[in-house]
Amino acid sequence: MKFILCAPCEYDSIDPNLLCKIRRIPVPLSFLALKKCILSLSAHSFANVTCPKDFSKYIQFKGIAPELKFTSLQEILPSALRLKIKEKKSHEISRLYDFIRLLVGYIGASYKVDEIVDIGAGLGHLSRILSLLFNFKVTTIEGNEQLVNRSNKIDFTTEVSLNHKARNHEKNDVMNNFPTEWQKPERKAAFIQHENEILQSTGSKQLLVGLHTCGDFAAIILRHFISNPEAKILINLGCCYHKLNGGLDKLYRNVYDDVQAPTSHHGFPLSRKFRHFKLSYAARELACFGREQFLKRLDDSISQEAFFVNCYRAILEWIILGCPSSLNSPQNFDPILRHQGLRGVRGAERLTFWEYAEETLKEKPALRKRFNDMGL
Ligand SMILES: C[S@@+](CC[C@H](N)C(=O)[O-])C[C@H]1O[C@@H](n2cnc3c(N)ncnc32)[C@H](O)[C@@H]1O
Repeated sequence: MKFILCAPCEYDSIDPNLLCKIRRIPVPLSFLALKKCILSLSAHSFANVTCPKDFSKYIQFKGIAPELKFTSLQEILPSALRLKIKEKKSHEISRLYDFIRLLVGYIGASYKVDEIVDIGAGLGHLSRILSLLFNFKVTTIEGNEQLVNRSNKIDFTTEVSLNHKARNHEKNDVMNNFPTEWQKPERKAAFIQHENEILQSTGSKQLLVGLHTCGDFAAIILRHFISNPEAKILINLGCCYHKLNGGLDKLYRNVYDDVQAPTSHHGFPLSRKFRHFKLSYAARELACFGREQFLKRLDDSISQEAFFVNCYRAILEWIILGCPSSLNSPQNFDPILRHQGLRGVRGAERLTFWEYAEETLKEKPALRKRFNDMGL
């Protein structure tokens, strides 16, 4: 048995009425249908996880008493051991720390995990903190050599702080909770293109963790996990889902470059169970955005105006193309007409659509003529 957890979506609590608040129009039926469809396809919802204990009911833990409070890195780590970590990353790392503690306490007992491998480690914050907080060997893989070098430098400074603590022992210093002999992460620079390239066999039982594994990289990690008997637990939090299939199914590519959407080894959908299921590049890209930020922007009047102008621009483009029923069929319109650079219009949000079109097409007489010829 292997244990796997991938990041879930939180579509169940989107309030469609909020999305339509701007102009008080009815919620489009297609949007409601999309919401229903997403809900029926979602395996789990983690929307109500408010403390580590809540994880247990989703992943059927038994026999262990998880904490009632999430860990705060600021409380348990002195600032000298949290170098260059932004608030968002600190939040993500603390949640992962709590979750890994649960997994290691429960599943780790049967598997005796003895190595954590952070794949796509970036600046190495997650791996550094995990190596300070757990007694495991920690290894990282990162495709960008510069990031690996910078991670090594931060490791070095962290090590200096720990050594300094050893010389200047002060009572009640939170630094005393950490070993002076720190086994820092082993960092490997390698850009992985195939699952076999991830790690040589070390004989250890691994917990793999990938935080923000972009597009196809997540797929490579999943395949590595399935084929590697040493990997016992995988925690993968993907991102940039639109980059699955190398991002080659972006609509304009089909139109301009005549690229057929590839059926990639790594692409979407990954599961055979969903092989007949299709999600466009745009839909996958939408899935990457945190809804909180988007809803906040919709609620803020300046952003609302910006969205409103975007909407004018999109409608204008559609009209310029001759109001095609689908953008999928290039023969319906001349692709050269797409993405024409049109001038910005000051105060566009206060204009009617027709006033906006008049203004923005001023320097494009050919397009203006096309617009007029359509009787608009
Ligand atoms: C979005 S960043 C996340 C970094 C880090 N895990 C974090 O959460 O801060 C993804 C990282 O994965 C690395 N990466 C992407 N594709 C990779 C590949 N095929 N092989 C190795 N590293 C890769 C990138 O260089 C980048 O640093």
